[in-house]
Amino acid sequence: MKLATGVITLAVILPSALAAVPLYGQCGGLNYSGDQDATCTKVNDWYSQCLPGAASSATATPTVSTPTAPTSATTPTATSTIAPTAPNGFVYTSGQKFMLDGKPYTVVGSNSYWVGLTGLSDADMNKAFADIAGAGGTTVRTWGFNEVTSPNGNYYQSWSGSTPTVNSGASGLQNFDRVIRAAKANGIRLIVALTNNWSDYGGMDVYVRQILGANQPHDLFYTNTNVKNAYKNYIRTFIGRYVNETGILAWELANEPRCRGSSGSATSSCNTVTITNWAKEISAYIKSLDSNHLVALGDEGFYNMPGNPSYPHQGTEGIDFDVNLDISTLDFGTVHSYPNHWGQDGNELTWGTQWILDHAKSQARANKPVILEEFGVTSNQPAVYTQWLSNVVSSGLAGDLIWQAGSRLSVGATHNDGFAVYPDGQVYPVVRSHAAALKSRNGS
Ligand SMILES: *[C@@H]1O[C@H](CO)[C@@H](O)[C@H](O)[C@H]1NC(C)=O
Ligand SMILES: *[C@@H]1O[C@H](CO)[C@@H](O)[C@H](O)[C@H]1NC(C)=O
Ligand SMILES: *[C@@H]1O[C@H](CO)[C@@H](O)[C@H](O)[C@H]1NC(C)=O
Repeated sequence: MKLATGVITLAVILPSALAAVPLYGQCGGLNYSGDQDATCTKVNDWYSQCLPGAASSATATPTVSTPTAPTSATTPTATSTIAPTAPNGFVYTSGQKFMLDGKPYTVVGSNSYWVGLTGLSDADMNKAFADIAGAGGTTVRTWGFNEVTSPNGNYYQSWSGSTPTVNSGASGLQNFDRVIRAAKANGIRLIVALTNNWSDYGGMDVYVRQILGANQPHDLFYTNTNVKNAYKNYIRTFIGRYVNETGILAWELANEPRCRGSSGSATSSCNTVTITNWAKEISAYIKSLDSNHLVALGDEGFYNMPGNPSYPHQGTEGIDFDVNLDISTLDFGTVHSYPNHWGQDGNELTWGTQWILDHAKSQARANKPVILEEFGVTSNQPAVYTQWLSNVVSSGLAGDLIWQAGSRLSVGATHNDGFAVYPDGQVYPVVRSHAAALKSRNGS
């Protein structure tokens, strides 16, 4: 079932309003203490915003009207003619924006690792994507991996000793074909991660263990030639099938790559250079096979600032966000936000806001889009997400995907890890107004 379409009426903005508050700046809402301007656009109870242009309405369905180029310091300079740099139907980037067929494309939506890995019927896959599309989502991030040593359920690669075999059957790539079909039927494009730092659904540790033996350090995934070749073989088979598939928005090298894995072990030499070199090599490899799709790292956006009091800024997990963002074969940056996992209990709003602003600065410096591609708290979700998502809009950050989608399917409610948001919950209205505000900002 599709959600009812939310309609937000945008007020006409007078030139004087633009002088008082920067475009896309906050100009009203609960707890807002600055100027309250009658011409503000209310996004939700917590946030009103100055939006450009004449009165219009934003709906959950993307429109094909002529885009209005944003013109603020925090958004890229508009060009009057933007030549598509990808074949029709594929999302590409232009400066800090995502584009599709010459128009801005807004990356907004959700994560659903489960849609292809839990044996869902076509009807349930369709319902899952329809829920997200009904809240204005355009994009879903999902897993394009499941490494198994004892085949069971849906999996994409099975291992017998050190020999991997891609599963191209109904429980393998043909199952992923169904995921893509269901997404496209709902106007959704997919960001697909090709392996996992964590041991969920196999991931890097399976390659290392099967090829190099038990108890080997996690980070040999990034440096051992045989392991890298096995991963490249998987990539070649998986993405080779979908090179011309417009339902794919981007490939991701890994979910949350880090030096240390679930076993906690890493060689002492693993550092940010290790993962940067790996990211260069693997992203160049993907580009050599597939020039149609965008490529991203899939990391958490950690900075490499030794001595910084905030753990995600210290560089200790092997990620240097700014250096990686400059890799020419990576098209956009990714950042995750889990303040409660990162020593910020009680400081979620302030720390999370700063984290978004930091990455918006990195985006502007590198002149590439950056998306908040996972974020979550388990308490106070509506208030925290309202603020963070308004920060995304006002900072100019390119887009965001919430962790994680929840749906009520014929097989029952999808997995709730404490973060899942369901269509009948309190977070859905926040997400729906945010998707409309972000599309409005982008003129998409
Ligand atoms: C709004 O202000 C109230 C009272 O100062 C505070 O308790 C609440 O946390 C604030 N909410 C947000 C979203 O900032
Ligand atoms: C993709 O399209 C190109 C150009 O039409 C074609 O040569 C190639 O075989 C296609 N690849 C796949 C996997 O369909
Ligand atoms: C990465 O994986 C390792 C081992 O699988 C785990 O210990 C670590 O917590 C993971 N990190 C993330 C961010 O998933």
